[in-house]
Amino acid sequence: MRIDVLTLFPDVFDSLNSFSIIKKAIDSKKVEVNTYNLRDYADNSRKVDDYPYGGIPGMVIKIEPIDNCIEYLKKKNNYDEIIYLTPDGVLLNQKESNYLSNLKNIIIICGHYKGVDHRVREHIVTKEISIGDYVLSGGELPAAVLCDSIIRLLPGIIGDESSALSDTFQDNLIAPPIYTRPEIYKGLKVPKVLLSGNQSEIQKWNDDKSLERTKLLRPNLFDNE
Ligand code: ADE
Repeated sequence: MRIDVLTLFPDVFDSLNSFSIIKKAIDSKKVEVNTYNLRDYADNSRKVDDYPYGGIPGMVIKIEPIDNCIEYLKKKNNYDEIIYLTPDGVLLNQKESNYLSNLKNIIIICGHYKGVDHRVREHIVTKEISIGDYVLSGGELPAAVLCDSIIRLLPGIIGDESSALSDTFQDNLIAPPIYTRPEIYKGLKVPKVLLSGNQSEIQKWNDDKSLERTKLLRPNLFDNE
């Protein structure tokens, strides 16, 4: 998979790409994450932002650098989706991450300041995603969140293949509680059934706990079929 990120702050992605699962995915060539600095695609003044029409305060990223960069990339690759991260986009969920992890090439556009010229959203972008109902100062952190949620799902990335399948939100359920050694810590015990070795009982316990926790913590997930 190839993920091309358009941003004014490419350095933010250096740390993302150099740890743990994402680093492993990049090193094993399961994914390529490239950043493109929008300033390199602006006109000679390297000006990437300007005042909004209509007297609204703040700055807006201009359409030219975004369009120039995307035109340049499109000459080399075909893209399945061009994603813009924005608080008024569709809320990211596991189903969307699963979908995106099956694509070959995507572009992610990070906004900053008041966002991007609306013509980018109307004519260039194919999908708008939000990571939550709160406003961050730019699209870089949301892009990092999105990349992580996609990349960990790529085949062969998470050690135990079944592990991604048992995540919370796969099947619209919250995962059951998990425990590790020691069996008793300061009098706190691991549930007996998990030590029984009886796989069908363990499976039933996990399924029951999953349902119980979903009903208790996130009953809205049952509406999300
Ligand atoms: N940019 C700023 N805030 C955001 C959010 N919550 N989700 C996606 N992009 C954003």
